[in-house]
Amino acid sequence: MSDWLGLAGRHAVVTGGGSGIGLAAALALAAAGAEVVAVDRDTAGAVSAGLRAETCDISNESDVLSLAERIGHCDIVVNTAGIIRPGSLSDVSLTDWNALIAVNLTGYLLVSRAFAPAMAARGSGSLVHVASISGTHAQANSGAYSASKAALIAMSQQLALELGPQGIRSNTVSPGMVRTPMTEEYYRAPGVAERRDKAVPVGRVATPDDIADVIVFLASDRARYVSGADVVADGGFTTTLMSWVPRPGFE
Ligand SMILES: NC(=O)c1ccc[n+]([C@@H]2O[C@H](COP(=O)([O-])OP(=O)(O)OC[C@H]3O[C@@H](n4cnc5c(N)ncnc54)[C@H](O)[C@@H]3O)[C@@H](O)[C@H]2O)c1
Repeated sequence: MSDWLGLAGRHAVVTGGGSGIGLAAALALAAAGAEVVAVDRDTAGAVSAGLRAETCDISNESDVLSLAERIGHCDIVVNTAGIIRPGSLSDVSLTDWNALIAVNLTGYLLVSRAFAPAMAARGSGSLVHVASISGTHAQANSGAYSASKAALIAMSQQLALELGPQGIRSNTVSPGMVRTPMTEEYYRAPGVAERRDKAVPVGRVATPDDIADVIVFLASDRARYVSGADVVADGGFTTTLMSWVPRPGFE
C-alpha cells in the first residue's frame, strides 16, 4: 500500500497555504506525492516550509484569474484562506461584514470557478473547502463568520451539483477548535487551553495536521463517491449537547 491515496503526480492548489490548516494541508499533500502550489496573500510561511508559493488575494477576481492562468493544470483545490473579525450583529460595521464575506465566501467561489475549467477538461477534480462547526452552530460576537461558513457549506453543495457531471467533487471539512496562528491568542489567556481540551470528547483541541488528514482524504480518489458532504472534524465536540443536562442518578 505504497500510494494508498493515489495522489502522486496530482496537481494541487492550496489557498491559505502560508499558515495553519492550509500550510499543514499543503505539506500533507506534498508528502503524499502531489505537486503543490501554496497560495496566500503572505507566502513567507509556505516559502520557509520549502513549498512552491504564489502570492494572491483570493478576494480579488483579477488576481485569482491570473493565478489560474499561471498555474494551468490543477486536479485539486483546497480552499482554506480565511479571516475572522469580532462584532455582534447589532454592532458589526458593514466594512468588516463585507471584508469577511469577500474572503471566506466570495474568495472560495472565485478560486473554485477559476480552476474548475482545467479540472473539467480532464474530466476529474476535487474541491475541498474548509468551513467550520460555526457554520452549523452560530458563534456569537464573530461578525459575519458563522454566516460565511453556513453559506460556504451551501455553496459547496451547489458546486457539487453543478460540477458533478464534469467529474468534479466538492466537499467541506468543518473543524471544531484548532490551535493555529488565527486562534493562538485565545490560548495565551490563562486556563483557556485546558478548558478547551476538557470540552472535547477526544480530550484535546485539534492540531492543523488533524484537519489536514481529512482534507487529503477528501482530495484523493479514495473519496471518489463523496461529494456535497460536510465532514465534521471536531473530536466529537458538537455531540456534547446532552452532557449539559443535569440528570440525577445518571452522572
Ligand atoms: N483555527 C480554528 O480553530 C478554525 C476552526 C474552524 C475553521 N477554521 C477555518 O480554517 C481556515 C484556516 O484557518 P487557520 O486557523 O489555519 O488560520 P490562519 O490565520 O493560520 O491561516 C489563514 C491563512 O489565510 C491567509 N489569507 C487570509 N486572507 C487571505 C486572502 N484574502 N487571500 C489569500 N490568503 C489569505 C492568511 O494570510 C493565512 O496565511 C479558515 O477558513 C478558518 O476559518 C479555523
